[in-house]
Amino acid sequence: MGAPLPQPRSARGPYRVGLVCLGNICRSPIGEVVLTDRLADAGLAQTVEVRSCGTGEWHIGNPMDRRAAATLRTAGYDPSRHRAQQLHPGWFDEFDLLLAMDRHNLADLLAVGPPDGAGGHDRIRLFREFDPDDPGGDVPDPYYGGPEGFEEVLGMVERTAESLVQELGRHLGRTHGRHDPHGHPSSRTARHGPR
Ligand code: 4NP
Repeated sequence: MGAPLPQPRSARGPYRVGLVCLGNICRSPIGEVVLTDRLADAGLAQTVEVRSCGTGEWHIGNPMDRRAAATLRTAGYDPSRHRAQQLHPGWFDEFDLLLAMDRHNLADLLAVGPPDGAGGHDRIRLFREFDPDDPGGDVPDPYYGGPEGFEEVLGMVERTAESLVQELGRHLGRTHGRHDPHGHPSSRTARHGPR
């Protein structure tokens, strides 16, 4: 699985995971919705907080791309709360772990930060480092392609999120005892219906 997860920056508050793509309307918002759902299922809703952003500024304030939202809705998730935001230097101080959706996003992150003393590059990694089937690849940018690209992204993100949640649970359960046994189950409707 690679290098261990970074230690929490602070003994208080949730462990903060930031997902980063280019526009923050397709891949990282899908990641945020799915990872948040899986954390809730694992009872880690209070232990780990997930946010997402883009390195680009074009879509600030916009909802998710309609194809990304449709793909999530079909799978039973709620994409409606997302509004795109852009990476800013404060993210390097505020997040325990920043996960880039592809290598370009990773290079952009490393070019911007972190500032000296902000915890080093072990906090800035590729999301698919945690992919149990094919680790270390990119989540391909689906923006200029067809709907099948969004399905592919969702599949990669779901299996990677499940494996990342296991790692986070082991890491934080052991080091901080912040596992939340009373976490609320997922609100994902498909979980309650036939699948
Ligand atoms: P994302 O996809 O980085 O997964 O949100 C993109 C969204 C918008 C653009 C590129 C990629 N764009 O060029 O506007």
